[in-house]
Amino acid sequence: MRITVIGTGYLGAVHAVCMAQAGHEVLGLDMDAAKIDALSAGRAPFFEPGLPELLGEGLDSGRLSFTTDPAEAAAFGEVHFLCVGTPQQPGSNAADLRYLHAAVEALAPHLHRPCLVVGKSTVPVGTAAVLAAKLAELAPVGAEAELAWNPEFLREGFAVEDTLRPDRLVVGVTGEHAEAVLREVYAPVLALGTPWISTDLATAELVKTAANSFLATKISFINAMAEICDATGANVTTLADAIGHDARIGRRFLDAGLGFGGGCLPKDIRAFHARAQELGVGSALDFLSHVDTINLRQRTRTVEAARELLGGEFAGRRVTVLGVTFKPDSDDIRDSPSLHVARMIAAEGAEVRVHDPEGLANAKSAHPELECVESVEDACAGADLLLHLTPWRQYRELDPAEVATWVRAPRLLDGRNALDAPRWAAAGWTLRLLGKPAPAPAS
Ligand code: UGA
Repeated sequence: MRITVIGTGYLGAVHAVCMAQAGHEVLGLDMDAAKIDALSAGRAPFFEPGLPELLGEGLDSGRLSFTTDPAEAAAFGEVHFLCVGTPQQPGSNAADLRYLHAAVEALAPHLHRPCLVVGKSTVPVGTAAVLAAKLAELAPVGAEAELAWNPEFLREGFAVEDTLRPDRLVVGVTGEHAEAVLREVYAPVLALGTPWISTDLATAELVKTAANSFLATKISFINAMAEICDATGANVTTLADAIGHDARIGRRFLDAGLGFGGGCLPKDIRAFHARAQELGVGSALDFLSHVDTINLRQRTRTVEAARELLGGEFAGRRVTVLGVTFKPDSDDIRDSPSLHVARMIAAEGAEVRVHDPEGLANAKSAHPELECVESVEDACAGADLLLHLTPWRQYRELDPAEVATWVRAPRLLDGRNALDAPRWAAAGWTLRLLGKPAPAPAS
C-alpha cells in the first residue's frame, strides 16, 4: 500500500520505518527540513536501538522516502498516518493540539481522491470527531477523506519491536471500509496472531490515555508503598515481588524509585484529568493528580535523602549524577526525573557533574549550568556522593571497588534500586536506597 506518515518525531519516524519494513511504500512528511534531510541521509534524529539499521534498509529498498511538501504527501498516499506531538500546553495541564490541527489543515486541501487519514497521536477524547469534521470540510473530496483512530503503545527503547510485534492493535472507525483498509495495512502484524480490537473513535482515543494512566498509577502506587516501607524498615522490592506473583496484579511496572518521567506518562495523566474536568466528570479522575503528586514527591525525597547522606549540606560538595535520560536505552531527557534532581541539587549550591551513555548532548544544550562529563570515571572523580538515577546497564556493570578509588568519599544513593547493593556495601560504600533498608558498609 502507499502510506504517508505525517510528523517524523519519535512515533512517526519509527512508524514510517516499520511500515516500509512491513512491505509498504512509505513517504514521511515533516515541516522540519533538518529532520527530513537527516532521515533521507539515513541518520535517525534520536537514539533508538535497531532504528538506524531499519532506516537504512528502508531507504535502500526504495520503499521509504521523506518530504517537506504536504501536496506531494497527499498525492502519494491512500492511507495517511498522523503522528505529530501533543505536548502539554504551557501554563495548563491540557494537551496542546495545535500540531495536529496544523497537520490536517496542511494535508486536507490537497486530498482530491478518497483516502483514509489515521490518527496515532495521544489525544483528549473527542479530538478525533472534531478532526473528522474538519477533514471533510477542508478536503476537496469531502467525506470520502475518512478518519480513523489507531493509538500507538510503543515504549522508547523498544520502539521497533513494539511496532512490529505489538501486544494488540486498536482501531477506532466509523465504518467497515476503514477497518478493512487498516486490516490490510497491518496484515503482516495480524499474521503473527496479534489481537485486533475494532471500536468507535472515542473508545480508541480513551484506550491510550487509560493505559498510560493505569501504568502511571501502578508506579505511583509502589512508590507510595516505598514511603511506607521507609517509615517502617520494610523492603519495597520484596513487597513488589510478593504482590506481583498474584497474576491479577503482575510484577511489571512495580519498580519503586525516582518515579516516572518522559514525554508521555506525566503529560498524559494531566491532559486526561483536564479533559475529564472539561467534560464535567473531573472528580472521576481526581486520583490522577495524587498519582502526579506522589510521583513528583519521589524527586524531593531523593534530594532530601542525598542531603542527609552528605550530613545536611550541599553547598561546596561535589555530587555526581549517573544517568540524565528519563529511562535507559533512550537519549530523551523530556521531564527526566534525574535531571530534575540534578538541577535541584545544583540550585542548593552543590557542584553537580552528570554522566549518561546517550543523553549528554541533549542535557548540555537544555541545561548549560550542569557539568556534562563524557567518561564515568571523570564524572566520579573527587565526588562526595554518587546518585544512580537512570538504570543504564553500564552502571550495573561498574566495579564498586574500582569506583571507590575514583571518588572522595564512597557514598551512593541508588534512586532506582537497581544496583547490587550488597556488593557495593561489601566494597565499603555507605548506601541509601528508596523504600528499603541498605546493607551496612564493610569497614
Ligand atoms: C510509555 C508507555 O509505557 C507506552 O506504552 C506508551 O506508548 C508511551 O508511554 C507513549 O505514550 O508514547 P515510555 O514513555 O517510553 O512509554 O516509557 P515507560 O517505559 O512507560 O517508562 C516511563 C517512566 O516510568 C520512566 O521514567 C521509567 O523509569 C519509569 N518507571 C517504569 C518506573 O519508575 N518504574 C517502573 O516500574 C517502570
